[in-house]
Amino acid sequence: MARVGVIVGSLRKGAYTRQMAGALKELAPEGMELFDIEIGDLPLYNEDLETDDPPAQWTRFRQQVQGADGIVFVTPEYNRSIPGALKNALDVGSRPWGKSSWDGKPAAVVGQSPGALGGMAAAHHLRQVMLAVNLAAMPHPEAYIPLVAGLFDQNGRLQDPQAREFIGGFLRAFQAWLARFAPTPPPR
Ligand code: FNR
Repeated sequence: MARVGVIVGSLRKGAYTRQMAGALKELAPEGMELFDIEIGDLPLYNEDLETDDPPAQWTRFRQQVQGADGIVFVTPEYNRSIPGALKNALDVGSRPWGKSSWDGKPAAVVGQSPGALGGMAAAHHLRQVMLAVNLAAMPHPEAYIPLVAGLFDQNGRLQDPQAREFIGGFLRAFQAWLARFAPTPPPR
């Protein structure tokens, strides 16, 4: 069973990105389990706090990332980039120097927006940071989902059939991407 951590870039309660994370869990293929890795409580990254006793929230976050077989980011777009909270989480996970929790981990990006452009600029900024921290970003399929407000029902469930099919296929592709990183058994 592959355990995949889901990181949502928005902190607001009613976030469409949070609803999309719910859809990812609902539509995960057999053999993949998704769990939330929260970022809203992480103190802003400050190297002065990087001591032998760093903030407990940083330690919790780093351990959850390290324990995941892969990561899916679901991000909104803020001013053509990712929200500051998400950048902070990426920075927290990247330290202490030489002990990045991201290093070599397979990951995928879902960009989305209630607007028409689907959060593509945010997703690409995120991919740029992923390069820096050696997260292995799945290149394809790309996910930039526009007009998200119309895709969910009043309970926050993804109801649009096309979107459901796309997310299902996206997760199957990610499962195949994860398999490339699975440790190979030693030769007999
Ligand atoms: C936005 N929004 C936005 N949308 C977009 O498509 N491109 C953008 O550059 C921005 N910029 C932006 C900046 C800030 C500070 C806010 C608060 C919002 C709108 C944004 O897509 C919308 O609020 C989403 O609903 C946010 O995602 P969640 O919280 O629903 O997941």
